[in-house]
Amino acid sequence: MKIGFFDSGLGGLTVLKEAIENEKLKGEIYYLGDNKNTPYGLKDENFVKKIVEKNIKSLIECGCNPIVIACNTATSLSIKELREKYKDIIFIGTEPAVKVASDAYMHKKILVLATSITIKQEKLLNLIDKLNIKNYVQLCAADKLVQFAEDINCNNLQKEVNDYIKELLSKYDLNEFSHIVLGCTHFPLFYENFKMVIKELYPNCNINIIDGAKGISINLIKHIKNINKDYDNETNTKVCIFLTKESETFKIRSRQILNNSKVDIEYKLQ
Ligand code: DGL
Repeated sequence: MKIGFFDSGLGGLTVLKEAIENEKLKGEIYYLGDNKNTPYGLKDENFVKKIVEKNIKSLIECGCNPIVIACNTATSLSIKELREKYKDIIFIGTEPAVKVASDAYMHKKILVLATSITIKQEKLLNLIDKLNIKNYVQLCAADKLVQFAEDINCNNLQKEVNDYIKELLSKYDLNEFSHIVLGCTHFPLFYENFKMVIKELYPNCNINIIDGAKGISINLIKHIKNINKDYDNETNTKVCIFLTKESETFKIRSRQILNNSKVDIEYKLQ
């Protein structure tokens, strides 16, 4: 059984990490990171739709099913059409965890950080409408975090990252908020930076910073167990990472991110 993961770059690895380390995902995993075209969030929507479809098609041709679209931007733009086109494939999408924040409603607001494309899409706006939380939700584009995460010098850019997070959060009075929803799979890579900046700006604030990785991972395992009754006997986990552009940085950073997963990783050029 081949399990596909897709993202514009490194971000989807935050979901894969959660699935392997905390939900014990096993099997043959094919991760496609479209590092040639990253970031998606500021690009033309039709262009992104086309490359998402092309990338998903190549995972399907590899025999992957289910496929986790570990990218909020790609999910919000393309999942509906992909499900209509590839009826035999189980697609597990990613969307900002506003439902989790709304279920925990604390009479405070919810701040959703995502890419410029994600915050404009009907998928998110409909969800907010459906949950009836329009008056409590603030949407904020934070595209630069994707660029920082993919930057060859990311580890040396901590000050720039913190300054950018500070600039974003300074637009709000965080005392009025119960949750910050990280609505892009790249953003959890900066979880510690968020914590540090919030502590500096609001020493007594205990705002919750959440993302969707856990929910997606649980959903994925549920689907796998439905398809593969022998899944519990599976012991091996093998990860093959396909890149759309050769990149030593991606290899180093992906090994760092999956460091605790203790899996064999193989890299291939798509
Ligand atoms: N990880 C993608 C997401 O969750 C990043 C989008 C981008 O490439 O801008 O939206």
